[in-house]
Amino acid sequence: MSKAVYAGTFDPITNGHLDIAIRASKLFDQIIVAVADDNYKQTLFTTEERCQMVTDVIGDIPNAMVDTFSGLLVDYCQRQGATSVIRGLRVVLDFEKELQMALMNRSLHDEIDTVFLMSEAKYLFISSSLVKNAAALDGRIEDLVPPAVAQALKRKYK
Ligand code: COA
Repeated sequence: MSKAVYAGTFDPITNGHLDIAIRASKLFDQIIVAVADDNYKQTLFTTEERCQMVTDVIGDIPNAMVDTFSGLLVDYCQRQGATSVIRGLRVVLDFEKELQMALMNRSLHDEIDTVFLMSEAKYLFISSSLVKNAAALDGRIEDLVPPAVAQALKRKYK
C-alpha cells in the first residue's frame, strides 16, 4: 500500500493546502495530513484547533487521515510506514527552501522521497500568514479558506 505524509503547520489550513491534499490523495492509497506541533512556529491556533480544522476540511477525502507529529518529519514517516513526503509548490520563491528541505530529509533517510505538487493557479498567492493578516483587518477571506476555517478566524479576531 502506498502511503504519503502531507505535513505542515496549517495555521490555518487554506484552500491551497486542500487542493494539494486532494491531488495527493489521487496518487497514493493513503495520505496522512500531519499537523506539526507548536514547537516549529509561533501559531495563532493551538495544535488541537489546527487538527480540528484539518479534520473538518479533509473529511470528504476517503483515503486521508489527520495526525499530529513532533520531531523529525522523516522519523515520523518511517514510524507510519510512509515512503513519500508531499510538498506543495506555489511560486519560484518556494523552490529554494523546498529543495533544501527535500535534500536534508533525504540525507537523514534516503528511502523517503519528496513529491512536489503544483498548486492550482488560483491558489498561488495564498499563504496562511496573508489569510491571517486579512482576517485580522476584517478583510474578505471566504474565497481563500474553507467555511469552517473562515468561521474559526472570525472567532479568533473578534
Ligand atoms: N497553499 C497555500 N499555502 C501554502 C501552500 C499551498 N499549497 N504550500 C505552502 N503554503 C504556505 C503555508 O501557508 C505557510 O505559510 P505561512 O508561512 O504564511 O504560514 C508556508 O507556505 C509554509 O508552510 P508549510 O508548507 O506548511 O510549511 P511549514 O513551514 O508550516 O511546515 C514542516 C514545515 C513542519 C513540514 C517542516 O518544518 C518540518 O518537517 N518540520 C519537522 C522537523 C524536520 O523534520 N525538519 C526538516 C529537517 S531538519
